[in-house]
Amino acid sequence: MDALIIEGGQRLSGRIAIEGAKNAALPACVAALLTDEPIILRRVPQLRDVSTILYTLGALGKRVVRNEGSVVISGDGPLSGEANPYSVRKMRASFLVLGPLLARLGRARVPLPGGCAIGARPVDLHLRGLETLGARIDEHDGVVDVSADRLRGARIELAFPSVGATEQLVMTATLAEGVTEIANAAVEPEVLDLVKLLRAMGAEIAVEGRTIRVATSRLHAAEHTLIPDRMEAGTMLLAAAIARGEATADDVDPDDLGPLSDALRRVGVDVQEDGRSVTVSASGPLRGTTIETAPHPGFPTDLHPPFAALLTVASGTSRVAETVFESRFTYVDPLRAMGAQIAVDGRTATINGVDRLRARTIEAPDIRAGAALVLAALAADGTTTLGGLEHIDRGYERLTEKLQLLGAKIERQST
Ligand code: UD1
Repeated sequence: MDALIIEGGQRLSGRIAIEGAKNAALPACVAALLTDEPIILRRVPQLRDVSTILYTLGALGKRVVRNEGSVVISGDGPLSGEANPYSVRKMRASFLVLGPLLARLGRARVPLPGGCAIGARPVDLHLRGLETLGARIDEHDGVVDVSADRLRGARIELAFPSVGATEQLVMTATLAEGVTEIANAAVEPEVLDLVKLLRAMGAEIAVEGRTIRVATSRLHAAEHTLIPDRMEAGTMLLAAAIARGEATADDVDPDDLGPLSDALRRVGVDVQEDGRSVTVSASGPLRGTTIETAPHPGFPTDLHPPFAALLTVASGTSRVAETVFESRFTYVDPLRAMGAQIAVDGRTATINGVDRLRARTIEAPDIRAGAALVLAALAADGTTTLGGLEHIDRGYERLTEKLQLLGAKIERQST
C-alpha cells in the first residue's frame, strides 16, 4: 500500500492549476445515458471516482473513449437496466444511473450505494421523487428495482436540498411527460453545471431560487466543459494558509469559493479575488472562528475537515457546526493524535488552537478527512506517514506533485 511521507514546517508559495470538478464530472457522465447521441465532456479530472462511473457506464452498454482531460460517451446499442453492484457499492454517485435507466428502459435494478462513511446517507429522497414521477419501487436484499410504464411530470418537494436527489430527479424529469417542478432543490454549482449540460443537450430547464422546473424534451448530442473543482481549490488554498504561505488557485470561480474566502478572512488570512483566480496569503497570526456547514450558498461540508485542520493551529476557541452529514468528524481522532485539541458534542466540534502539531503515523478515513490530515502534516513538527491513500485518490488528482510545486516536502512511497 502507498503512503505519503510529509515533512512539516515548509512555507508554501506558488500557483496551482485546478482540475475540473469531480462532483460535476460524475453526474455529467451519467447524463450521457439519457441519449443515444455522443456526449463530449472536457476538463474531466483523472480520478478514481471518474474511472468508476465510466466503468459503470461501459458495463451498461455505453462506449467510452477517454483522452487526457476529455471523455466521449456514445453508443446507440441496447442499454442494460442492471447496474454493476461492485461499482455502485464502491461509490454513491453511481446510484444516479437509476432514474436515467428507468426513463430510457421503463425499468432498472441498482444496488443500494456505498461511498464515504460520513453518515447514514439514505436514498429515500431519490426514491420518493421517482415515485412521484410514476415509478414503482421495490427494495429488497440491498437492491432497488424500479419500473414505470410511463413517467409523468409532477411537483416534488424535497425535505432537504439533497445534491444527489436533485441531480437524479432533474435528469429523470428531462424524459418524463410534461413539466416537473422540484422545490427545495439543491443549487450547488455542480448541480447548476449539470443543468447547463442538460440544456446543451436540448432540455428546457428553469432555475429560480431553490425551484427547478424541467420541461420534457428530446435530448441530443452535446459538448460541455466542466466547472473548476472548488473542493480541490479550497483544499489547496487551505494548505497554503496552514503552512503560513501564499498561493494562487488559477482558473477558478471566485464566487463559488466565496463562503471559504469569507471564513478565511475571519481567521486572519488575506484573500484576493481577481477575475478567474483566488490568492491567499497567511503571513500574520491566525485566530479562531465559527463556521456552520449548509447547502449552497452556505459553507460546503466537503471543506469542513480541511478547514477544521486550519483551526487547530488558530489561536483561541473555534467551533465547527456540521448540518449536512452527521459523521463528518472522522478526522478528529487522528488530529488529536497529532496534538490538536478538539471535542465533539453532537454535530459541533469545539477546537482550542495549539501552537504546534506533532507528526504521527496516521490513516486517511475518507476523502476530505484525508485532505485534512495532509494539511495538518504540512504544519506539524517532524515527518508524518499517511496511509489510506485510496480515499484521497478518489478526490484529488496529482496532489503530491501539486504540493511539491508549492514547495512542500511530500513524497509518495510504496510500502
Ligand atoms: C454530494 C457530494 C458530496 C457532498 C454532498 C453535500 C457528489 C458526488 N457528492 O453528495 O461530496 O458532500 O453532496 O454537498 O456530488 N439525504 C437523505 N436522503 C436522500 C439523500 C440525501 O436523507 O435520499 C441526506 C444525506 O444523508 C445527507 C444530506 O441529505 O445528510 C446531504 O446529502 P446529499 O446532498 O444527497 O449528498 P450527496 O449527493 O450524497
